[in-house]
Amino acid sequence: MHQGSSREEIVAGLTRSKARLSPKFFYDVLGSHLFEAITELDEYYPTRTEAAIFSAHGEEIAASVGAGATLIDLGAGNCAKAMSLFGILRPAHYVAVDISVAFVRRAVQRLAAAYPGVAMTGVGMDFSSSLELPPELVEELEEATPLFFYPGSSIGNFPPAQALAFLRRIQSQAPRGGLLIGVDLMKDPEVLRRAYDDALGVTAAFNRNILLNVNRILGSDFDPGQWEHVALFNEVQSRVEMHLQARQELVVRWTDGERQFAAGERIHTESACKYTVDRFESMLREAGFRAVRYWVDDDRLYAVFHAVN
Ligand code: AVI
Repeated sequence: MHQGSSREEIVAGLTRSKARLSPKFFYDVLGSHLFEAITELDEYYPTRTEAAIFSAHGEEIAASVGAGATLIDLGAGNCAKAMSLFGILRPAHYVAVDISVAFVRRAVQRLAAAYPGVAMTGVGMDFSSSLELPPELVEELEEATPLFFYPGSSIGNFPPAQALAFLRRIQSQAPRGGLLIGVDLMKDPEVLRRAYDDALGVTAAFNRNILLNVNRILGSDFDPGQWEHVALFNEVQSRVEMHLQARQELVVRWTDGERQFAAGERIHTESACKYTVDRFESMLREAGFRAVRYWVDDDRLYAVFHAVN
């Protein structure tokens, strides 16, 4: 992402009366490692539950998606998750899309050697606000069957209206294809809250680390030690929220600006919306998908949906 536009976005968020930072600024190198550590925590069930659903229902999922699709992995990262599912998804062409083009191209190169029978492409793109696939791929998708893949319940990090717009964009690009998506489900609010406030403090470190990344981008002087990690469940909006709360009155300065915070004032850093299966199925249908199937774990913590046109 362009550093200038990131600066503007950060300043706009910090100078609002209710300060906020986009969760995309969590993911610098340390933030990405901390997120990987989060996925290993007892309290953070989504990653392992999604994997368990794929392993328990792999045959049915494979039959539903069919073989030979162009698999478009949105937010592919190191491509490990999609690669572990190649046996189920059996793509003819794997397209890894990630905000970091260099990272994703390297990952795809490594993968190409292990799967010589699957065509591989790496695309660098911030797909959160628009989904403009390269023209060659758009052309290919007129003939091929696209299968968009959006695992990890990342859809929960969009507000519902944006999530619907995102689903609509995918639906319009997949006239003969579909979407395979992981969604975290509504459950006991305390279980949800603990998933974002673990006993070891890994999520707290992940949350505070956003301030170090912001310091780097903006040249600001945030001291992470002055900020407390807060995770709460917002019943009205059906979402977990993460905030950073000032431990005392303080001023944060950057090259051409500053922001004063009162003791106890918060910066909202992330929302993670939680859905019921019915609500998410309705959203998929509202986005234009005609057939929807889903699989859940025995405790109904998490769902994997396959939506087709
Ligand atoms: C990436 N995303 C789906 C995670 C979530 O659960 O919302 C990010 C996360 N934030 C705190 N813990 C995990």
